[in-house]
Amino acid sequence: MRIRATLRQLEIFLALQEAGSVSAAAEQLHLTQPTVSMQLKKLADLVGLPLYHQIGRRLQLTDAGLRTLQTAREVVGSLDSLQMDLDDLQGLKRGTLRLGVVTTAKYFIPHLLGDFLERYPDVEIDFKVGNRQQMIDRLSEGYEDLYVFSHPPENAPLTLHPFLTNPLVAIAANTHPWADRDRLSLEEFAQAPFLIREQGSGTRYALEQFLKQRGVKLNVKMTVESNEAIRHSVMSGLGVSILSQHTLAFGADTGLRILPVEGLPIPSQWSLAHHKSNPLSPVARTFLQWAEQRSPALTN
Ligand code: PGA
Repeated sequence: MRIRATLRQLEIFLALQEAGSVSAAAEQLHLTQPTVSMQLKKLADLVGLPLYHQIGRRLQLTDAGLRTLQTAREVVGSLDSLQMDLDDLQGLKRGTLRLGVVTTAKYFIPHLLGDFLERYPDVEIDFKVGNRQQMIDRLSEGYEDLYVFSHPPENAPLTLHPFLTNPLVAIAANTHPWADRDRLSLEEFAQAPFLIREQGSGTRYALEQFLKQRGVKLNVKMTVESNEAIRHSVMSGLGVSILSQHTLAFGADTGLRILPVEGLPIPSQWSLAHHKSNPLSPVARTFLQWAEQRSPALTN
């Protein structure tokens, strides 16, 4: 016998999993908490097993809940895809483009999106930003259509579309004693108090790999969870750092200097990534083609 769950119940269950609590799901869906609770109870009754347990403030899905979640994603995803295909057949480019980008990519992706929306004004964008680890977690849950990484997860079956270089450069305040040096060895640079991004950051991951290869250790003074906060801390003389050059694009002249450290910049490359097994929605496909056509202009 088929489970007679409604589409609304599946959407509510998806929102519960993403938002993490009944109250947050209710807020996200503009529904009352009792409505959300009642629909979740009906869904669990139809499934015949509990879908989740509340452990303290954490929501833990049961095996039945995980399986139901997978079906909810497939059903909702496939209806979204149907809508987009139908729009496509009518020559319309509309629908939602779900994009997840690592924090360092947020400096240039919005400009790309601005141009894309000018061309396709009926497309809506759902734009999520997080560090590399947060985006890897979202990718494994399949929340977004496309992701922007410079260091994609190694073991995931991904299709990658490289589109822009991402050099990581050494920075100091322009009042720093090294600001006017022509050359600086990595060993000397490594002695300065260093401001490093948090665990889970792709910038930190690339930096750690680079240092490991050279057997160099940094003098880490502060761990900071934001590129902006690092830039401001460096400007105020708290130490030096290594960040993507893209983080400096706005305000490069506001008190920072790129230091000529040997072996730097650390090279890397931005790629648009998606799961090999997930068919791309028409909007995501259109965006990908469009971004690829634009990439020579972006790299200049
Ligand atoms: P992140 O992004 O340091 O914010 O994680 C950069 C990257 O993944 O390369």
